[in-house]
Amino acid sequence: MCGIVGYIGSGNVYEILIKGLHRLEYRGYDSAGIALVSPSGKLNVFKAKGKVENLESFCADKNLEASVGIAHTRWATHGEPSDVNAHPHFSEDGNLALVHNGTIENYKVLKDALMEHGCTFHSETDTEVLVQLIEFIKLKNDCELVDAVMEALKQVVGAYAIAVIEKNNPDTIIAARQSSPLVIGIGEDETFLASDATPFVEYTKDAVYLKDGEIAVIKRGEPLKLFNLDNSESKIDVKTLEMSISQLEKGGYPHFMLKEIFEQPSTLRDCIRGRVVEGGRKINITGVNDNKERFLNAKRIVIVACGTSWHAGLIGKYLIQSMCRIPVEVEYASEFRYSDPVLDKDDIVIAISQSGETADTLAAVKIARSMGAFVFGISNAVGSSIPRETDSGCYIHVGPEIGVASTKAFTGQVMVLTLLSLAVAQLKGTLEHEKIAEIGKHILKIPTLVERVLKLNNRIERLSLIYTYAHNFLYLGRGYSYPVALEGALKLKEISYIHAEGYPAAEMKHGPIALIDAEMPSVIIAPRDHLYEKIVSNVQQVKARGGSIIAIVTEGDSVIRNIADHVLDIPEMPECLTPIISTIPLQLLSYYIAINKGKNVDMPRNLAKSVTVE
Ligand code: M6R
Repeated sequence: MCGIVGYIGSGNVYEILIKGLHRLEYRGYDSAGIALVSPSGKLNVFKAKGKVENLESFCADKNLEASVGIAHTRWATHGEPSDVNAHPHFSEDGNLALVHNGTIENYKVLKDALMEHGCTFHSETDTEVLVQLIEFIKLKNDCELVDAVMEALKQVVGAYAIAVIEKNNPDTIIAARQSSPLVIGIGEDETFLASDATPFVEYTKDAVYLKDGEIAVIKRGEPLKLFNLDNSESKIDVKTLEMSISQLEKGGYPHFMLKEIFEQPSTLRDCIRGRVVEGGRKINITGVNDNKERFLNAKRIVIVACGTSWHAGLIGKYLIQSMCRIPVEVEYASEFRYSDPVLDKDDIVIAISQSGETADTLAAVKIARSMGAFVFGISNAVGSSIPRETDSGCYIHVGPEIGVASTKAFTGQVMVLTLLSLAVAQLKGTLEHEKIAEIGKHILKIPTLVERVLKLNNRIERLSLIYTYAHNFLYLGRGYSYPVALEGALKLKEISYIHAEGYPAAEMKHGPIALIDAEMPSVIIAPRDHLYEKIVSNVQQVKARGGSIIAIVTEGDSVIRNIADHVLDIPEMPECLTPIISTIPLQLLSYYIAINKGKNVDMPRNLAKSVTVE
């Protein structure tokens, strides 16, 4: 959570930083702030509660002349969203300004010690402790800023990506990372830093991803230098960014979420490309091919993830168990890490994370590796922490996802899990060649089928008007459609703030059925699969209690069509592929209900795209 950006160079510092903050706003939007050092060595800090646009209004009449600057968009952890708790924070003597993403766990101990030395604090944040500590060390040791930062970070327990600038030093930024992402963009005579590469992709494609424990010294006119906390110099590994600027813009859509929903035919095409070959008869997943023995000998697979990625993981369980005959457990990463897990070297842990930065999933990865398990990552963000910490893995290749509500990443994750299951089944011989070929052939058609389902857009927009003012929703599904129900409910609640519960349809009889009345719509995912007859009974049970029903059915369905109030048809396909298709009408339904309610779908309240705190 929180986005940080920094710039040193001859460009317009303020404009580059503000534009960068807008790109990073998906990471948090409780407050925003900027610190600028002018060529004459004056440090100005401007902050405002709320979105970046508030900061821009606040800055409109200010002197924004600068040679170097850092900026921050906040998702509050310590202290409420307010001007005073907004970053950048500065040291007591006003010499240093610092932005921070992460949490300082021992901030209380450090704060008490600094207060004993006469330091006063103005905010409730853990970040202010860090900047005061750096200044305290700098004054005490009469040392350079980089040495003070290094010394301070040795005393800090927690997660951080920081950038610090100094009054009277318009030529330097010091930055550091531990468990929170930070990437440096190297341009011609200019250097950028940011929580991800989106703020500088139009200026340079050369990026250096900082590793844990590294400190960057960015000086005007000098090559970048990286140090470890023990002062040894670290090697610089420049990567070329693949991202393009058009991926970061709305491209004519009113919201990123809608753009990302409609991108799914092409993102799925990108996800499949090169992985389904010979007309569908062969599945190629490099991470599986390179680790054949691991997958052949796996006794158990444990999937760890959070939120939408966890829902994809549940679908992964059904896929892997039925195709590969390997037992699978799916765990919330936040629970797994504290559950005293039992793992051994024959276990495979699959970590799923769109951002590749979710703190709990990253921690689960580290625990699993320390216990000797083979860890396979499924991620979207190239160069992010999880792909770097895992033994092997696979990118979903769906391009940057900006909307806080995950859509194209979910279908990409499910697609990769499907391909992985097929690749392992191919290796183990647990699925017949003909079956793999049949599924493979259908996978190649998925982008076109998604295009067909997206044609439901106008109908779903009209349908949404009927249900906008419901206070509660139930989402029901069985088998592969149960995680889809969970995902549909999550989409609705996170952007429209309507309470929604996803449930295995048969479990409904054990409690939730009591909730059903005319005021409580149920969305039932009921494609024609091996549980179809069963879900027909569940549909009837809801109807018998007076509940209204929106059903997702297979084209040509005539039974549920006669019971449900509204049906949305999806094309016929092998059962294991239905989640990718049946989730799309649910994404659109939640989008339109939230729009009807006037909600900000791309930046829903209290949420952030990347959850890098516990
Ligand atoms: O980046 P990750 O996939 O690790 O993120 C996990 C969750 O935070 C994320 O899926 C969240 O639940 C989304 N807002 C759901 O739309």
